[in-house]
Amino acid sequence: MNRSLPLITALAFCALFTSSTPSALAKPIAPTFSREIAPILFTHCATCHRPGEVGPFPLLTYEDARKRAKTIVAAVEKRLMPPWKAAPGLVAYHDDPRLSDAQIALIKEWAATSAPEGNRAELPPLPKFTTGWSLGEPGLVLQADQEFTLDADGRDVYQCFVIPTKFTEDRYLSALEVRPSNRRVVHHVVAFTDTTGKGRERDAATPEPGYRTFGGPGVPGAQWLEGWAPGKSPRHLPAGHGMFVPKGADIILQVHYNKTGKAETDLTKIGFHFVKGPVDKRVRIHTHAYPGLNIPPGNAHYNVTNTYTVPAGVTVLAVWPHMHLIGRSMNVEATLPGGTKQPMVTVPDWNFNWQLGYHFKEPLKFPAGTKIQLTAQYDNSTNNPANPSHPPKAVRWGEQTTDEMCIAFYAYTVDAEHLAQGIAASGMSRGGGGNREAMTTLMQEALKLFDKDGDGKLNDAERAEAVKAFQERFGTKKK
Ligand code: HEC
Repeated sequence: MNRSLPLITALAFCALFTSSTPSALAKPIAPTFSREIAPILFTHCATCHRPGEVGPFPLLTYEDARKRAKTIVAAVEKRLMPPWKAAPGLVAYHDDPRLSDAQIALIKEWAATSAPEGNRAELPPLPKFTTGWSLGEPGLVLQADQEFTLDADGRDVYQCFVIPTKFTEDRYLSALEVRPSNRRVVHHVVAFTDTTGKGRERDAATPEPGYRTFGGPGVPGAQWLEGWAPGKSPRHLPAGHGMFVPKGADIILQVHYNKTGKAETDLTKIGFHFVKGPVDKRVRIHTHAYPGLNIPPGNAHYNVTNTYTVPAGVTVLAVWPHMHLIGRSMNVEATLPGGTKQPMVTVPDWNFNWQLGYHFKEPLKFPAGTKIQLTAQYDNSTNNPANPSHPPKAVRWGEQTTDEMCIAFYAYTVDAEHLAQGIAASGMSRGGGGNREAMTTLMQEALKLFDKDGDGKLNDAERAEAVKAFQERFGTKKK
């Protein structure tokens, strides 16, 4: 690392003079693979780009890197790699894998000077990668009861496996580790808890292990537990904090698989690390959703904004933005009661493939009355290569590939809650509720959802649809 410092200084120095001085005069020594490039690839790329991992080719040797120098430059310059969609500089996150501007400049310089290998004696050793559970043996390991077989070709698959916990009491986890058996195909994983039994029903209705969905678990009422993507190292919650797994819950494990061109199998394991000692703080998930989407075909700049008012003092640990294919950008920012702005996440260039969560290095303290503003933009035009509909069609909230979502999930604790002292608190309510203003917004959003002709009220047919949807969802009448 130190070795590259003089070179970066030289580069910066050179940049100062390039406008007036012929660059040949101040030309720095060209970076080599062994000295400058390998350390970057080993730290930032090899977690995924090595045999048996999700990266489509290894980046471990000089030959691996040399033959791909051009595509590597393209991928790092556009910051497509390493995958990380949050804009930098707003707030610090754990495990931020981004390359610095200087590292990107080195890679470009190296590729432009015909990608030399340099002196092999300077090559650092390959990093040691953990193959087992990285937090040690979990208290409980669960998996689906059967291996899943993935076809060779076609679209990515989002398969939900339903795994009973058989817990006879509520449990708290300090960490959840995910270990795919076939890391080449597992792109990301989200674990939900389900106490409704609906996940089991859906599983039983299909012959293969699990059932197929697109953006979410496909079961209303399932609660987000934890998300994982390759490269994410699991970490324990702070002492006394726990993720809640209710008694009798099933885990719905949604696995995003990408295909490799040949049939593959996988059986992803999850490891529960239980909280040791008393639990004082329950880590809850708030779903800040804007369900009122109604995106006209052809609209390249469809904007939505929704504000959620925090009902009681909370501490926010992480944020997960979630949209589907035609989402373009999302911004989540809080305004504290005194007017101070607290950025949470900005994803300027959304990519459905990378459903990443962002864990704050310093958890954010939000007093009651803090307003969290969620802003999202969608591109429903033909120019959007990610648009699944050709020609574009009107897009509303839903679970299908051609539907959209607009959610920011917040992992948080309630400041007044101290379970160890017997002081329980209730969490923030779903969907922007929590106060009358927010309830009104929710009702208006619900109205928009069924108001297909957009006249601001429900006609008979629209009302019938709404009643049907309500019954299907809340089961007041058997289908
Ligand atoms: C978290 C895992 C992960 C990390 C870390 C990662 N990659 Fe990738 N990379 C992938 C996956 C998966 C793909 C396949 C395309 C996709 O899913 O986006 C890919 C694709 C690529 C491609 C091909 C892009 C194309 O246009 O086809 C290049 C080049 C690449 N990665 C380079 C890098 C470099 C260089 C780094 C480090 C600076 C890196 N990757 C870090 C997972 C990763």
